[in-house]
Amino acid sequence: MTAPVLTLSPLPQSKLEGTPQTEIDPEFGRIATGLDLDQVKSFSPELVSQIQSALFKHGVLIFPSQKVSPEAQYALTRSFDPDCTSYGHGDVIKEKEDVEKKKIPAASILHPDLKTIPRVRQVQLIGNGLVKSHEGLENAQLRHPHHKTFHDTVISQEDEDKGHTRFYRWHIDAALYNLSPPLVTTLYGVKVPTGPAQLVRYDDGTGETLPVPLGTTAFVSGQQMFDRLSPAEKSLAVRTKVVYAPHPYVWMSKAKSRSTGLGLESQGLELGPEQLPVVEEEKIKVLPMCWKNPSTGGLHLQVHPSAVKELIVSPIPVVEGKAASADSLYPSGAHITDLEEVRSIVYSLQRPAISPAKVYAHDWKEGDFCLFHNQGVLHSVVGAFKEEEIRMFHQCNLAASKDPEGPNQEDLEMWA
Ligand SMILES: [Fe+2]
Repeated sequence: MTAPVLTLSPLPQSKLEGTPQTEIDPEFGRIATGLDLDQVKSFSPELVSQIQSALFKHGVLIFPSQKVSPEAQYALTRSFDPDCTSYGHGDVIKEKEDVEKKKIPAASILHPDLKTIPRVRQVQLIGNGLVKSHEGLENAQLRHPHHKTFHDTVISQEDEDKGHTRFYRWHIDAALYNLSPPLVTTLYGVKVPTGPAQLVRYDDGTGETLPVPLGTTAFVSGQQMFDRLSPAEKSLAVRTKVVYAPHPYVWMSKAKSRSTGLGLESQGLELGPEQLPVVEEEKIKVLPMCWKNPSTGGLHLQVHPSAVKELIVSPIPVVEGKAASADSLYPSGAHITDLEEVRSIVYSLQRPAISPAKVYAHDWKEGDFCLFHNQGVLHSVVGAFKEEEIRMFHQCNLAASKDPEGPNQEDLEMWA
């Protein structure tokens, strides 16, 4: 038997009418063929490290026509960080039980979307419609998240009937409290309904739109997000640490999203400390704004825009012969706690990088297995399904064994 060989080819270009000329970094994303991922346990260490390097270089790998058991999906996801074992958001079944028993006061906004596969609790069934029986789950009611449950403004029914939609929520898969952000996420399309394309509207006054396949997952590169910043913005980004809200998905459960799905409106709707589960200070996550790619060494602007609460900015380092320029941002450093200001800074850095020409919207086919570098990209659920459209995906990510690394000394000398 010949050894399996990983072959990579560029992502297909969208053929949908109205798609702008792509500005996606040509290195971003690859179609990966030649491997049967269900056999991951028999992969050589060399092959595993080849997959890892490819993922860190390209951010998103799509393996078409796979048939992968939950056990193999878990094994593949874990191969990136063998020390981790818990699902990226902890034990979802246990947390749901704790809410029912009133051991904790409020539920995270994420959990209704997750159904845990009992045999492999790190793998979740997500999608849409009523799934009668699947991998030990009976009558699982799945709901594709719809922007009307989360955005401050919504698309009219008339426009929705024409196929207009939104990015639901740009994010990194991460609990952002206690647990470290997963290094990778795997998404396996078990059942994928087909239907007409939809049109993402940004509805933020720019008039920007993006035609997308039904139920696409949208990705942008965090590296490209960093690379396009101005020198002053790069300096700010490498000097900044992001303080996330404790229990962020409970904290934000009443707040509403911007129409681009990229962070929240500031309307004072976040829950106060008395409405949250007990907060343990040492579990609050303070992470660099830029995360260093373990393979390429590049910096990725990685902020979960909805969960951010404060920013801590270090002063520009004093270097002989180098003066802060007139357009420097927060040259003396700052601890920014005003939520509206925090969000507006993060938005100004991230928003240009989700413009239509920079978004990869994957056209899911049954059997597609997507592996994405969760510490290097942002992604969003998109679109709307009808009640009767059944969609089943297996999703797995594991809380990393350590937090991502930020810029090193060399990066600071280069960009700060
Ligand atoms: Fe996600």
